[in-house]
Amino acid sequence: MPMKVSAKARYLALLICVQLMVIVLMYREGSRRRVAYLIGILWKGGISPTGLHSNASRAGDVYLNLSLITRPLGGENELLPCPAASPYLGGPIQVSFPKELTLEEVRRRNPYVTSGGKYKPPDCESSHSTAIIIPHRNREVHLKHLLYYLHPFLQRQQLNYGIYVIHQAGNYTFNRAKLLNVGFKEAMKEADWICLFCHDVDLIPEDDRNMYTCEKNPKHSSIAMDKFGYKLPYRTYFGGVSALTADQYMKINGFPNNYWGWGGEDDDIASRIYLNGMMIVRPDVLLGRYKMIKHAHDKGNEENPKRFNLLAKTRRSWKDDGMNSLQYVLLSKQHLPLYTNITVDIGSERGLRRAT
Ligand SMILES: *[C@@H]1O[C@H](CO)[C@@H](O)[C@H](O)[C@H]1NC(C)=O
Ligand SMILES: *[C@@H]1O[C@H](CO)[C@@H](O)[C@H](O)[C@H]1NC(C)=O
Ligand SMILES: *[C@@H]1O[C@H](CO)[C@@H](O)[C@H](O)[C@H]1NC(C)=O
Ligand SMILES: *[C@@H]1O[C@H](CO)[C@@H](O)[C@H](O)[C@H]1NC(C)=O
Repeated sequence: MPMKVSAKARYLALLICVQLMVIVLMYREGSRRRVAYLIGILWKGGISPTGLHSNASRAGDVYLNLSLITRPLGGENELLPCPAASPYLGGPIQVSFPKELTLEEVRRRNPYVTSGGKYKPPDCESSHSTAIIIPHRNREVHLKHLLYYLHPFLQRQQLNYGIYVIHQAGNYTFNRAKLLNVGFKEAMKEADWICLFCHDVDLIPEDDRNMYTCEKNPKHSSIAMDKFGYKLPYRTYFGGVSALTADQYMKINGFPNNYWGWGGEDDDIASRIYLNGMMIVRPDVLLGRYKMIKHAHDKGNEENPKRFNLLAKTRRSWKDDGMNSLQYVLLSKQHLPLYTNITVDIGSERGLRRAT
């Protein structure tokens, strides 16, 4: 009898040793998530690998119940203030990208959206007003999907809003931060927006309780993207979707104008925020969820090799580079049914030249 037990124990010990070695090897390869999962199995005798997406079945159609929002018969004059929490919020949203979607379809499903992509709740007086600023070039398909989700998403939140697409003309390297500065300036010319949402064209929010309103400090909203395993990639990350009030925006002198190409500008903006005594706030990690539309790396938006040099200088440069040094040529402004298209020549690294 004792003989048998010790053989069994030795066998078990061997098994555990092998498993531990596998774990160490995997850890060294950097697949920490898989290791955590394995440890979970050893520890609790099995966990659900679908934990992260456990509410997928609860996710609903973003257009569900939108038809409940209608203009009351009495006329517009005596609208009551909107309630503190919108009754139309539905939580998790189901997101997919059907090829056959058209802008015409998006327009048909959002009858209360007016020229330039603007909206006010027809049934109550909202105290919020948010401008969505989307830097853009050659991403018409992504834009179509974003508009399909964003319009009903914002209507469920009972906001006054407007959508501005800032289109970089010409073929010179893309400059996201400068386009956002242009968007800020052009949007503020049209209305006294309280809140500005800087929004990448390829990120779709997956929970309508992630409010598109501003806070006492600048807010980073896209904290859990599917691309990063629904986690923040690093602590000061400020890219993707972020929100500032007009005052906060001007306090940091807007965004840098000199980051051409991919990367760095969001870290510069984060530095500006901290240098001005503010901090970055975030929604709950269960709400700040986004799905990224997959695409190849853009031509004309290659990684910016100078970004680390530039970042090192932010502390000295932010006062001179930003809204107070912004130069561009407005080429056209179209109030389209679902958005305002602002097309600009933002020049190149060598300066501003009129595009031909
Ligand atoms: C899933 O739903 C439950 C109950 O509704 C909630 O407590 C939990 O936070 C949700 N999880 C995610 C990932 O949204
Ligand atoms: C949507 O409508 C259904 C039934 O018509 C209702 O059960 C549900 O609570 C509504 N959801 C919202 C978010 O209004
Ligand atoms: C940009 O590139 C496209 C194709 O690569 C070309 O047809 C177009 O003329 C270029 N535009 C400018 C302003 O150089
Ligand atoms: C915006 O307008 C410009 C100039 O008319 C046009 O070339 C561009 O395709 C438009 N972009 C979008 C996204 O509508």
